[in-house]
Amino acid sequence: MPIVRVDKWSAGLSATGNRLIQGDNLRVLEALSTQYVDSVRCAYLDPPYNNGETYQHYFDNMGHAEWLHSVAERLRKIRTLLTADGSVWISIDDSEVHYLKVAADEIFGRDNFIGTIVWERRTSRENRRVLSRNHEYLLAYAKDLSKWERFRNPLPITPEVANRYRNPDADPRGPWQSVSANVQAGHATPQQFYALKAPNGRIHEVPKGRCWVYTKQKMMDEIAKGNVWFGVAGTSVPRLKRFLSERKTGLTPNTLWRADEVGTTSDAKKQLLAIFQEETLFDTPKPEALIHRILQISTNPGDLVLDPYLGSGTTTAVAHKMNRAYIGIEIGDHIKTHSSSRMRSVIAGESGGVSRLLSWSGGGGFDFYRLTVTD
Ligand SMILES: C[S@@+](CC[C@H](N)C(=O)[O-])C[C@H]1O[C@@H](n2cnc3c(N)ncnc32)[C@H](O)[C@@H]1O
Repeated sequence: MPIVRVDKWSAGLSATGNRLIQGDNLRVLEALSTQYVDSVRCAYLDPPYNNGETYQHYFDNMGHAEWLHSVAERLRKIRTLLTADGSVWISIDDSEVHYLKVAADEIFGRDNFIGTIVWERRTSRENRRVLSRNHEYLLAYAKDLSKWERFRNPLPITPEVANRYRNPDADPRGPWQSVSANVQAGHATPQQFYALKAPNGRIHEVPKGRCWVYTKQKMMDEIAKGNVWFGVAGTSVPRLKRFLSERKTGLTPNTLWRADEVGTTSDAKKQLLAIFQEETLFDTPKPEALIHRILQISTNPGDLVLDPYLGSGTTTAVAHKMNRAYIGIEIGDHIKTHSSSRMRSVIAGESGGVSRLLSWSGGGGFDFYRLTVTD
């Protein structure tokens, strides 16, 4: 019978439910399994990539079969902790991505595969290797894809997309963009074919193979409401006005996540340097903007986020700033020197990473646990 010892202390506000847990994640996931079954909305995993490197804070040379078995074992446990509309996002590089995909397919089912994201992790060239590996991957799975699809969030529209909306006629309803007023005639009714008379008297025929999007009466109503645009001179082919203020949907995430959108490893290191102001930097942190995007898509405020390979604490820092609840698990002592120190500075209002974007000014708290299991 294993003996479980738990040491605990708190930082900031108590009873937030936020947890940093030191221990082997397999043991910790087992210990959490009763309390947290069907509770985690998003799990982010950034396991050692099994690339043979020795980092300052952990080793990454397990051997392929053992490594794959170890990650798969943890994924199986995590799946039971997910809500029905929950998802898992796994960071991985070229050397193991294909094996991990097959293993994860077996656990989640190929039908629940959300997709592969390519993240541009560096913008400089790595000249010491045959190929400069500038990207790595995120494999994303849902516990149940149909439920996740209904739950997930689009991304907010970017300034670039917003800039496509203009207001050449000083419409009091604000900026708009125009879309075609005719569509393919495949399913048209006879009422959608007519000669359209513009306010200046000009007649517009619908192009061959197309029909007007509205019937004649509806089109006249839309023209009267100022919703149809005939160009500055009033002589152009009619187009429909779509207002930015009425736009309900955000953006569908791309599968290519560029460094200028979600940051690089080097951005993440610079942020850590600003927090710790010393040289014992963590070697492989993820940028906060990368985790922010995952949580934007897959969670809402108050949701529970799990990271079983916490490292320097990026996931918990971002979850905290985004008002999500979290559990971060880390085996190494750097959970004290790095992850929890970082979380204390987040509570104190740390200004790096996504802080400015989220107007983060501090607050909240977390509980720290050390789980020791002796067989
Ligand atoms: C690639 S790093 C994670 C980096 C993290 N995403 C960040 O932004 O800082 C992987 C981490 O997993 C930890 N780790 C490896 N095996 C573990 C285990 N069995 N249980 C808990 N943590 C583990 C390592 O100590 C290391 O800190």
